[in-house]
Amino acid sequence: MRTTISVIKADIGSLAGHHVVHPDTMAAASKVLAEAKAQGILIDYYITHVGDDLQLIMTHTRGELDPKVHETAWNAFKKAAEVARDLGLYAAGQDLLSDSFSGNIRGLGPGVAEMEIEERVSEPIAIFMADKTEPGAFNLPLYKMFADPFNTPGLVIDPTMHNGFKFEVLDVYEGEAVTLTAPQELYDLLALIGTPARYVIRRIYRNDDNLLAAVVAIERLNLIAGKYVGKDDPVTIVRLQHGLPALGEALEAFSFPHLVPGWMRGSHYGPLMPVSQRDARATRFDGPPRLVGLGFNVKNGKLVGPSDLFDDPAFDEARRLANVIADYMRRHGPFMPHRLEPTEMEYTTLPLIQEKLRPRFKKEADMYKTKESIYTKGKSSGETHD
Ligand code: 13P
Ligand code: 13P
Ligand code: MG
Ligand code: MG
Ligand code: MG
Ligand code: MG
Repeated sequence: MRTTISVIKADIGSLAGHHVVHPDTMAAASKVLAEAKAQGILIDYYITHVGDDLQLIMTHTRGELDPKVHETAWNAFKKAAEVARDLGLYAAGQDLLSDSFSGNIRGLGPGVAEMEIEERVSEPIAIFMADKTEPGAFNLPLYKMFADPFNTPGLVIDPTMHNGFKFEVLDVYEGEAVTLTAPQELYDLLALIGTPARYVIRRIYRNDDNLLAAVVAIERLNLIAGKYVGKDDPVTIVRLQHGLPALGEALEAFSFPHLVPGWMRGSHYGPLMPVSQRDARATRFDGPPRLVGLGFNVKNGKLVGPSDLFDDPAFDEARRLANVIADYMRRHGPFMPHRLEPTEMEYTTLPLIQEKLRPRFKKEADMYKTKESIYTKGKSSGETHD
């Protein structure tokens, strides 16, 4: 059977700061999805949250970018935001950048990860949902899952995975995508996705048969809104087993709490900490950036599960290391490389400060009575080195 899995998420306001979704807002969203299920728009759904992000996990047979499904999600967020307003929750309606819905939720603020699949006899999936970071945060773990045999031995020993996977990479600054094949084009792939603020893995397909294996919500809110409106807090859906990464290979990719952009005011690098649903609340310095993983089986469109994948002592060391890294990074205070690089800060309030100080900058040449500043002589024609 052809089933579509749609994970659509938004921050519609949260309790005590950018901390955690309030249960009443989840209940309001749940009511909308229950109605859509009764009307036959959805087959099944599961509602959860990571930090201040409300997550709608939905299944149906209507395909990707379906106006009815997107409208359902939009209405669920609107209702939840109303409750958030009534309760005086912080930043009510934060990610709902538009007042009106016009057939497609993309570009309106919420993040969207959708895949239409032909259900296998057993269709295990994992949904990874992050708070206080951006879509490129999944570049490294998805690379490890689908291209790194040190993470995924199936790439070497499972003949059905041995021909590798292809990665659709989106340039979020130019709105262009390129598809690169691993392992043949590994180094080209890494050259791009090593710049995760710009090049984001969007989809992954199996080389043998083009089977869709993973999708990522690629919305970058500040690039859409043109100003800082919170972090994107992305999700990814990963299909598992049977010629795809085993569940344990997918999870292994998160055993290393790599540094991701986000955290406090969306402006700091911090470790991505895998946590249980219970610990999916942003606290220290509005983080550290957190990741929840839920495991399901999809059967005739029904969501069987979930299992709370990081609710497990096997990830205690990853969390401990994340805390050590958090201490280390925090001690840099407002200095890079804890604070993000200037290009990424363009969408924060920092440009306002630069603008304010502009009249107070004096020409270095005037100050030192030289003909020109040593820094404006232009590029010398020196040799280039590696
Ligand atoms: P089981 O024998 O427990 O099914 O394990 C199979 C496997 O391949 C684990 O990675
Ligand atoms: P959110 O995108 O999770 O709302 O984060 C906003 C923020 O600025 C946290 O400090
Ligand atoms: Mg928020
Ligand atoms: Mg958030
Ligand atoms: Mg956000
Ligand atoms: Mg088994």
